[in-house]
This record gives sequence, structure tokens and C-alpha cells, in this order.
Amino acid sequence: MALDRNVAPNDLNAFWMPFSANRQFKRAPRMLVAAEGMHYTTADGRQVLDGTAGLWCCNAGHRRPRIVAAIQRQAEELDYAPSFQMGHPKAFELANRLLGIAPEEMAHVFFCNSGSEAVDTALKIALAYHRARGEGSRTRLIGRERGYHGVGFGGISVGGIVNNRRFFGALLAGVDHLPHTHLPERNRWTRGQPEHGAELADELERLVALHGAETIAAVIVEPVAGSTGVILPPRGYLERLRAITRKHGILLIFDEVITGFGRLGAPFAAQFFGVVPDMITCAKGLTNGVIPMGAVLTTAAIHDAFMQGPEHLIELFHGYTYSGSPIASAAGIATLETYREEGLFERAAAIAPYWEEALHSLRGLPHVVDIRNLGLIGAVELEPIAGEPTRRAFAAFLDAYEKGILIRTTGDIIAMSPPLIIEKDQIDLLIGTLGDVLRRAA
Ligand SMILES: Cc1ncc(COP(=O)(O)O)c(C=O)c1O
Repeated sequence: MALDRNVAPNDLNAFWMPFSANRQFKRAPRMLVAAEGMHYTTADGRQVLDGTAGLWCCNAGHRRPRIVAAIQRQAEELDYAPSFQMGHPKAFELANRLLGIAPEEMAHVFFCNSGSEAVDTALKIALAYHRARGEGSRTRLIGRERGYHGVGFGGISVGGIVNNRRFFGALLAGVDHLPHTHLPERNRWTRGQPEHGAELADELERLVALHGAETIAAVIVEPVAGSTGVILPPRGYLERLRAITRKHGILLIFDEVITGFGRLGAPFAAQFFGVVPDMITCAKGLTNGVIPMGAVLTTAAIHDAFMQGPEHLIELFHGYTYSGSPIASAAGIATLETYREEGLFERAAAIAPYWEEALHSLRGLPHVVDIRNLGLIGAVELEPIAGEPTRRAFAAFLDAYEKGILIRTTGDIIAMSPPLIIEKDQIDLLIGTLGDVLRRAA
């Protein structure tokens, strides 16, 4: 079917856009109308190189034939089936395939529709798990400053981003936070994992001493924090967090919504860092971003704690109308097949050193105060304009889009996370264009 690239909705007012400067956008819209591989096509017919895999989700690039075909076939065969007290084969198949690439300690999969839902699901499972084992006093949840865990009330409560929290009332009670691990004074310009800061994990001992271990259900962290500008775990930090949580019977949840599915060159960050949590949340790359889907992976110990009492009774009072829906499951299976067939996780690992080199070539450009990278993630931190935080990076984002590259900004940090299919010449183009943008902004 021919695409009409001139379609422009005649009124942009109705759609209240998420996490967007609505008035700015509607005055000068940036409209994407098609995509293929590494590129978006804009409404005015330009090609834009995707430096962010959409929103960290299209890890295999855009409009991949296997995924498109799987969705089309599934829609024709079985459009929807409930997962409450009923089943359909593809959800079970996807769960098995997911476990096939996950750390071997992961034994069960609970499906939902987004990263936010995955986080709230994991937090609820943690609370109910302790209760099922007779440790109902473990109700406290611990997150981390500058953490992002989506926008549900659970996620914003354990999250650590002030603007995601302060407008929304009292949030969940009984939540505490670890300090973030962003230490620019000690780790600036680090390539890969920073050297300094593992001792920040010991702050958990302080929280245990303050609250009592028997009140703490779980700690949730992003192995690599993306949304607050790419904050990397110092060497040894995650290992220490694992040791302390284990010592005190506290569950450790890795929020792998952005690190899952090859972003670091391994299926999950848990494998990349060699640290296995009790639960993993994921979404985004699970279906290559094509159909909403999220999942929580758990150990057998967690799942089995619920499998008691009369068999006709529901064990966990939680779930969504679209948990493991047929079309999302079909998309997930085709996505995992695409990753495997094309060796995309290995590809990300292989091209990561080139990415690192290119990214750090931006050091010395005007206003660049730090550069960070790991796997196929990169961040360029800019000096904020005095009194006008975020303006410099947002201006760079707008200029970059005009010049044909899609980047993302958070505060005054430019974050990039290209599809894992990116070629070296495309890395050169992405980073070269960003360099031009930064020079021009000076
Ligand atoms: C670590 C993390 N958790 C949760 C989420 C929320 O995912 P969603 O937007 O699908 O609800 C995100 C989204 O960027 C994320 O980066």
C-alpha cells in the first residue's frame, strides 16, 4: 500500500502527549510517518537516523519482516484470548523462550504490558512472597535516587526523579532510597564501568540498621540507569548489593527495561555483570517495541512460595487483561528469533568498542563536561546554561533532528542507544552530526 507522506492531522490539540513539551511540539511538530532498519522517515520526506532505538526499544531496528509477518498471521489466527483461567500456546512458548536466554536461576515469567507494569508487578510479588512465607512484616521497598522505574505509583515511589514524584501526592508509604552512583568528581570521562563508588552499596547496611531487615521486602535498581542520563554501576557495586540483600533475606530486583535484550552485548545486564537478582523486569526490546508487552522473570523459590493451598484457588491476585496476549506473544517470539538468527546481542558486544571510541571523540567540544558509555549506550553531558537547566540539551536535540539524527535528552544530558544493527559508518554519521550540533551551539 502506498504511503501518503503528506498526511498531517489538521488539529494536534486533542492528543495530550506524554513526557513532552506539548506547546512547543504543536507549534513546530516533528512528525514521523514511516521507518525501516536504522531510519525514520519524517512527514516532510527526510530520513532521520535513529540514535535511540525509538525509546530504547527497537533493538533490532525498524519494520523487521519476521516480526511484522508474525503479527499479521497472529491477528488472522487468534486475535485475542484471555489469560485468566484460560490459555493459548504462544504465551507459554514465549515464556519458555525468554527463560532460554535469561540467567538460569530465572524459572518463571509473569506477563504484563509495559515497563511500568512490570515494576509494579515485581514490587507486588515481592510483598506477597514474604507474606506467603510468613514474613508479612517485610513491607518496606527500597529504590535509589535518580532511579527510573516507570510511572505507576509503585514505580514513582521507588524511583528517584523529583519531577516524577513531587506533583503526585504522598506516593507509597514505607519506601526508602539508596544514594545514586553518579560521582562526576571521581569518575568523569570513564570509558565503560567506573572505578569508584562500590562502597555506595554499603548504604544498604545503613538502611537495614535504621529500619530492621525484617521490615524490608525488596531493593530495586536499574543495573544501568538510563532515563536520568546514563548512570553506570561502579565496579563491584552490584556484587555488593547482591551480597548484602542475600545476607538479610531481602529480594533484589533488577529493572532491565532498557538493559534487557542485548543493550550491553548480553541478553540481560545480569549476565553482563555476572550478578543474578531474584527478579528481572523487562519490556521494550521484548517485542522490539512493536507491540506493548512487559514481563517479570522470577526464581523458582519466589514462584513456588505461592503454590500452596487448595488447587482450585487463585495463587496470586494480580494480572492484566492483556497479560501474554496472542499478538504480543507472537511479536515476542518473532523478536527473540530475530535477535538469535542475526546474532544481535553478540553484534552489540562486537561493535561496542567502536561506539566507545567514537563517543569519546566528542571530548573537548564546547560545553561537554562528561562522556559515559557501556555496551551500546552513550551519554554526553553538557554544562547547563546558567539559570536555564535543560535548555542547552533541548536545543541540541532540535538541531540534531533538523540535521537528520534522533537523539534523546534528559536534563542537560544527551543519551543515545541505537538499534543493535547499527553499522560503523552510521556510528560515524551519528556522532559526527552530534559533533557538528555541539560545535554550532557554542
Ligand atoms: C528502567 C525503566 N523501568 C521502567 C520503565 C517504564 O517503562 P514503560 O514506559 O514501558 O512503562 C522505563 C522506561 O523507560 C525504564 O527505563
